[in-house]
Amino acid sequence: MEISYRLNKITEKVTNDNIADIGTDHAYIPIFLYKNNKIKNAIACDISKGSLQKAKDNINKYNLNDIIKTRLGNGLEKITLEDKVDTIIIAGMGGMLMLDILKKGSLIASNAKELILQPQKDIDKVRQYLIENNFKIIDDEILKDDNKYYTIIKAINGNEAIPYTKEEYIFGRFEINNKCQILKEYIEEQLYKMEIVLKNIKNSNAKSRILELENDIEIYKEVFKCL
Ligand SMILES: C[S@@+](CC[C@H](N)C(=O)[O-])C[C@H]1O[C@@H](n2cnc3c(N)ncnc32)[C@H](O)[C@@H]1O
Repeated sequence: MEISYRLNKITEKVTNDNIADIGTDHAYIPIFLYKNNKIKNAIACDISKGSLQKAKDNINKYNLNDIIKTRLGNGLEKITLEDKVDTIIIAGMGGMLMLDILKKGSLIASNAKELILQPQKDIDKVRQYLIENNFKIIDDEILKDDNKYYTIIKAINGNEAIPYTKEEYIFGRFEINNKCQILKEYIEEQLYKMEIVLKNIKNSNAKSRILELENDIEIYKEVFKCL
């Protein structure tokens, strides 16, 4: 079974047997994990009947009905403590939606051994929520797949000994400390785009947007220099 580089990277982070994949859609994550002997059981959840049907069809195709159970529901609402889920994966959705899922399902989330999150945007807010809610980020990786950038965050229960800076919330402590070249490339592209926008609106009366952009450009340039 072939999966994208992004999905492959997500599956590489899994270190437990019993997973829940929230927003599973095609169920490629649990199917791939089982086919590669990385898990024993999975619960594939989705809020959409259509997506869950896609998941069921693929699970059927690989004859994994006894291994991967499907549940229709919002976020973690259909997961119980009795499910003894070790790893929660939430990938391919916006950060604010992800936070809503984590907040509403905080009991289930805090009982898992690891969270593997791949927010599509508002990544800084996901990091901040984790740090402020007794999670510790133990892995954080930016990657490029099909010309798009993605970030995968892995968290466990615990507290950060050293507080996160604003820059670390935005770009990731691991990426900055490791002088990650993909992050450097990402920042360079963002700077290029932001500078074009700034040039176009510089003489307009969008003062607060101009200030915001100037401030962002400064932060991005500072971090770029460290990489
Ligand atoms: C873009 S797909 C991502 C699929 C897969 N996780 C991946 O990373 O390739 C997002 C999926 O999340 C589901 N979804 C959106 N909101 C959800 C929620 N509140 N609870 C569960 N699933 C949700 C959608 O129905 C859709 O199937």
